[in-house]
Amino acid sequence: MKILRTSAAARRAVRAWRAAGGTVALVPTMGNLHAGHASLVDIARRHADRVVASIFVNPTQFGPGEDYARYPRTLRADTARLRAAGADAVFVPTVAVMYPGGGGPSTTVSVPGLSTDLCGAHRPGHFDGVASVVLRLFNILTPEVAVFGEKDYQQLVLLRRMARDLHLETRIIGGPTVREADGLAMSSRNQYLDAAGRRLAPALHAALRECRLQLLAGKRDWAALERRACRRIEAAGLHPEYVAIREARDLAPPGAGCTSLRVLAAARLGGTRLIDNLAVRLR
Ligand code: PAJ
Repeated sequence: MKILRTSAAARRAVRAWRAAGGTVALVPTMGNLHAGHASLVDIARRHADRVVASIFVNPTQFGPGEDYARYPRTLRADTARLRAAGADAVFVPTVAVMYPGGGGPSTTVSVPGLSTDLCGAHRPGHFDGVASVVLRLFNILTPEVAVFGEKDYQQLVLLRRMARDLHLETRIIGGPTVREADGLAMSSRNQYLDAAGRRLAPALHAALRECRLQLLAGKRDWAALERRACRRIEAAGLHPEYVAIREARDLAPPGAGCTSLRVLAAARLGGTRLIDNLAVRLR
C-alpha cells in the first residue's frame, strides 16, 4: 500500500492507475479507523479497480472548543487496517498540503439550507468545512467513485447535493452504518466515553428504533414522536440536541404521502457528542 503525502504524489499515483486502465474510488476519513471505515473500503473495492483512502483531521470542520486538538491520531494502526482492508494507497496530507494558502482564509464551499439544519444548527460552520475539504480531495484525487457512511447521514446528503450543484463527475455511494453488538453506532468519538457513559450510549439508538416502530405502527404526528424520542433519550441520562423525522432523499420535513423517511438524532453524553439515524420505509 502506497503512502501519499503530497498532492503531487497523489496525482502521480492516480495518473499511473488511469494509464493502466484502472478506475479509482476514494474513501475520505479523519483516521482512528474502525470496522465502519473498513466496510467503506470493502464497498469501494467493489466499485473501482483501485481504492485510495485519505486520513486528514480537517481543522476547518471543527468549531472553537470542539475536539480538534484531542481527536485521536493513530496513523500506524490506521495504515495497518487499511492495508488489511485492501486499500491500494492512503493519502495523508498535512494542513499545509490541504490548505496551501498558509493559514489565511481560503475558498469555502457552502451548501445552503442543508449546512445549517440539524447538526449544522448545533455546529456552525461544520458542514462548510466538510464540503470544502471533500471538494479539495476530489480535485486532487479525481475519483470516479467516493464512498461515505450513512452514519453521518446529513453529511452524505449534503455531499450529494454539492456534487449535483457543482457538476462533479465523482459518483457518491453510501455505506450502511456498522454498529457494536448493543446497537451503538461505531465512531472514533466513542472512545471518549468512560465505562458508565459507554453503558448509557446505546440509548440513542434504542430511542430511534422505538420511533421507527411507532412510525411503522401508523403514527404520523412527527412532532409528538420527536418529543417522545427526546424524552426517552433524556430519561436514559443523555442530553438530546435534536430528534428529527425527515424525508430520506433531501432531509426536508416529510410531505404528505412520503414513504422513505430518515429519523436522525444527536445527543451529548458528558463531553462526547453522539449522532445516529435510521431508515424508515412506510407502506
Ligand atoms: P470520519 O468521521 O473519519 O468518517 C469517515 C467516513 O466513515 C464517513 O463517510 C463516515 O460516515 C464513515 N463512518 C463513520 N462511522 C461509521 C460507521 N459506524 N459505519 C459506517 N460508516 C461510518 O466523516 C468524516 O470523517 C469527515 O467529515 C470527512 C468526510 C472525512 C471530511 O473530513
